[in-house]
Amino acid sequence: MSHAWLEKNSIFLLIGIILVVAIGGAVEIAPLFWVGGTVEKVSGMRPYTPLELEGRNIYVREGCYVCHSQQIRTLRDEVERYGHYSLAAESMFDHPFQWGSERTGPDLARVGGKYSDQWHQAHTTDPRSVVPESIMPPYKFLFSTPLDYRDVQQMLVANKDVGVPYTADQIAHAREDLEAQVDPNADGLDAFQKRYAKAQARDFDGDPARITEGDALIAYLQMLGTLVDFNSYHAHAPENRR
Ligand code: HEC
Repeated sequence: MSHAWLEKNSIFLLIGIILVVAIGGAVEIAPLFWVGGTVEKVSGMRPYTPLELEGRNIYVREGCYVCHSQQIRTLRDEVERYGHYSLAAESMFDHPFQWGSERTGPDLARVGGKYSDQWHQAHTTDPRSVVPESIMPPYKFLFSTPLDYRDVQQMLVANKDVGVPYTADQIAHAREDLEAQVDPNADGLDAFQKRYAKAQARDFDGDPARITEGDALIAYLQMLGTLVDFNSYHAHAPENRR
């Protein structure tokens, strides 16, 4: 009855609409003011290495997110399939984040370490060579395309500008660090691994002679979900609260 009255009096209907939308907006926007407290601190998280960051850019460029999410929901079936549900802190250095909602393929948030580099080389080159029923497209060209990392330093600077805590040291050594990560004999390897805890360094694409886009992509995939140690992480432990 009163609803019919409201619908016939456009001014009041308009005021009503604005009121409802305003409440909805406030509920969505207000928590963002306290986002600093929402993202709990989790030990182990570090910014991406320059090579991983390049790999991430390729992941975004190729639209992998169109078929793959990177957010394990808290539901039981997800946790049993993919591992511990994703923490906000695990994507705090992602600009833009890759959570996604489309899962034509599996979630990739914890794919790091699940397969060997050789598996990734074969799978990325020709998915059906390892998973016969796969509908994933092949990305063979990544392994014949040299990685263009001339602007890697600026990439770190750009990420720092939006809040990723890269140090001056990390920015200054971006190029060497990228090269050290694919070369187990590099002089700068120790310094690189000090700058980036738990960083894996090796030739990722099966071709030690050069640095390809495949190196960067596999380095990125192999680190996904490996930084937080879930044997020592407890959601309600005091050190994870602020
Ligand atoms: C058209 C959709 C589609 C696109 C685009 C796509 N994938 Fe996939 N991906 C799949 C499907 C389906 C599977 C599952 C079958 C398989 O393993 O190939 C899969 C599987 C995978 C797996 C194995 C995951 C696991 O846990 O077994 C990885 C890693 C992967 N994709 C990486 C990528 C990367 C990197 C890109 C971008 C370069 C990409 N995918 C683009 C559909 C896609």
